[in-house]
Amino acid sequence: MSQKVRWGIIGLGKIAHKFAADLQLSDTAMLHGVASRSMEKAIAFAKRYKAQKAYNSYEALAQDPEIDVIYIATPHVFHFENTMLCLKQNKAVLCEKPLGVNSTQVQTMIAEAQARNVFLMEAIWTRFMPSYQKVLKLLQEETIGEIISIRADFGFLGEPNPESRLFNKKLGGGSLLDIGIYPIFLSLLVLGMPSEIKTMARMTPTEVDSFCAMLFDYKNGAKAILESTFEVDTPTEGYIFGSKGSIKLHRRFHHANTITLFKDDVETVFELPHSGNGYIHEIEDVNGCIRNGETENSKLPLAFSAQLMTIIDRVKAQIGLNYDTTTSIQKK
Ligand SMILES: NC(=O)c1ccc[n+]([C@@H]2O[C@H](COP(=O)([O-])OP(=O)(O)OC[C@H]3O[C@@H](n4cnc5c(N)ncnc54)[C@H](OP(=O)(O)O)[C@@H]3O)[C@@H](O)[C@H]2O)c1
Repeated sequence: MSQKVRWGIIGLGKIAHKFAADLQLSDTAMLHGVASRSMEKAIAFAKRYKAQKAYNSYEALAQDPEIDVIYIATPHVFHFENTMLCLKQNKAVLCEKPLGVNSTQVQTMIAEAQARNVFLMEAIWTRFMPSYQKVLKLLQEETIGEIISIRADFGFLGEPNPESRLFNKKLGGGSLLDIGIYPIFLSLLVLGMPSEIKTMARMTPTEVDSFCAMLFDYKNGAKAILESTFEVDTPTEGYIFGSKGSIKLHRRFHHANTITLFKDDVETVFELPHSGNGYIHEIEDVNGCIRNGETENSKLPLAFSAQLMTIIDRVKAQIGLNYDTTTSIQKK
């Protein structure tokens, strides 16, 4: 592919703005079209980020032959139907996290992408941060020895508006899916699949979790202590403790600009700032995949997203968190 990778965006909310701003930093990509439920919003967004096309229909954008890859930026519960819509048009998809709201959805999306030989990836920007490349290198070199445990929290005080994306069950509300996914991501990246999971949660009147504490156990004896909450601001840090040292991912650990290595009574600080809003790193990686005709990303393969959702489903089952997906599954 000699020309620039042509992007489309579906759902023009908060994250779409940050993503579109970072797209402008790329030399290998351009924003071609955007789609909103509102034409007015689509036109304003297209103008602001210099997209050629503005649509008031997600379907129309999915059918645009001049788009190579579509970024899905709608609330969690719509990821399945929006992604399936694009895949069925043989469009590559970068879908915001979580890829779906349960494993049935995620497996169906993966099967559709694979059957069509079309690129699909969950937009976990964290995996592409410079700081995470450094952490993985340190772990690969066994700098901190055998991993004994991980600790990670993600918490902020969210306005308890029952209609908001965070609290409304119909929009996939709850801390687990929105931010608990990041501590779980870190544990999966570093320790793999847990053998045992223990949880404790507090549910809201809207029947989603506003607090979720998780304890994971692994076959090799390692442990993970993870937490997500909308009830209070928490440090939002990540720690990896090993037999020969430890690594701290500074606040906010899911897009840490700083990590500290503690080893032999010496603290070594690494400043590894991300560029732009932090989305440019995943954008460039996806651009590379699209240009090379790859159907998944080797840093964030689909099997990883499937495992991530398997863990989330196990946590959901324990805390009694359930989303009604009958409508979206029927639409597939
Ligand atoms: N990677 C990250 O750092 C990060 C950060 C924040 C959020 N996210 C993810 O991005 C997704 C969107 O989050 P956000 O904070 O951008 O949400 P948001 O501000 O509420 O925007 C979501 C957009 O989805 C569209 N939408 C379609 N149907 C909708 C409905 N029934 N109700 C509300 N919106 C609807 C709307 O766009 P139109 O009106 O234009 O159609 C809306 O603006 C979530 O899945 C979240 O997990 C990721």
